[in-house]
Amino acid sequence: MGELTLPGLIDAHVHLREPGATHKEGVYTGTAAALAGGVLGILDMPNNTPPTVDRATLSRKLEMFRQKAVSDYSLFLGFDGRNVAPLSELGGQVAGLKLYLDETFGDMTTREPRMLAEVFATWLGPGPIAIHAESPSIRVALELARRYGQRLHVCHVPDPDDLLAIETARQAGVAVTCEVTPHHLFLSDEAVARLGAYARMKPPLVAPRQVALYWERLSLVDAIASDHAPHTREEKDSANPPPGVPGLETTLPLLLAAVDEGRLTLERMVELTYHGPLRIYGLAAPVDSAVEVDLLERYALPAKGYRTKCGWSPFAGQRAVGRVRRVRLRGQVVWEDGELRVSAGYGRELGRVGGR
Ligand code: NCD
Ligand code: ZN
Repeated sequence: MGELTLPGLIDAHVHLREPGATHKEGVYTGTAAALAGGVLGILDMPNNTPPTVDRATLSRKLEMFRQKAVSDYSLFLGFDGRNVAPLSELGGQVAGLKLYLDETFGDMTTREPRMLAEVFATWLGPGPIAIHAESPSIRVALELARRYGQRLHVCHVPDPDDLLAIETARQAGVAVTCEVTPHHLFLSDEAVARLGAYARMKPPLVAPRQVALYWERLSLVDAIASDHAPHTREEKDSANPPPGVPGLETTLPLLLAAVDEGRLTLERMVELTYHGPLRIYGLAAPVDSAVEVDLLERYALPAKGYRTKCGWSPFAGQRAVGRVRRVRLRGQVVWEDGELRVSAGYGRELGRVGGR
């Protein structure tokens, strides 16, 4: 049996770089890469230039997605330490609020305790507060979520021990969910010696022993999200390379290889890549949609030939199972045998459960 039909992936953490850095990626190239990877819908991060932090920047970005996206999407509102007013006004238009408690690409870090408390006091949802945070900051955010009764989502969990801290908070009644990236599951810090800047991202890769712990503790994880963060080769080869790696097109074949090896079940894979992300953000699945995969295809991930504009992958050479044959999105074939079948603007904003 070589054909597998999946509901498709929802990738809850991507950086499509538009506006501000379309030499790395754009809404059209990024959502096409999503479909190539069997991803029906993406959640786009706010660390753009300018950052998505108020009504004007959000409206412009939504309009751009309406015109250019080929996959479905939802956007994040961000906070850059300046204006909290949008946090009580714009929640209905976004998947959630993205808060940066530690440094990464972009300039949106908020650390000041009184400001953080104000953010947690002001956000009205309905989506969660999703955080970029190193381990000590995760503890700070868990405490704030408890104090203000906020729903918290921990992005790209930086250390497998954080999964235990998150579970302890959950047991104590904090509404917290978390995601892990494919690069933390399929690469270790040994890749840095081989790939240099091409294996550098935030949070950084960890030792093989910790990678094994992510796998052991996968039952504590709510979603796998790529953190697709493309940068050009030129930028990665420069003296001051930015952190981040692409991932939209590699999550599915890597996970199917893991399923093939008995490291997780297919059902659990679907939970982590589809039901989980939708549930975390309260989003509705696109109707009449599916991804057909040819499971007989077993291969090593290539170094090039990707749809993402940056054109490379840190996973080149890794074992992969399955190739996306056909993607149906809201009743229409949108991707078939390596070809995009719809034009810019086919993508729609993901609906909210219970209506937007
Ligand atoms: C991301 C980027 O490049 O926008 N980089 C990264 O290393 N993950 C930002 C982020 O998600 O931290
Ligand atoms: Zn990110």
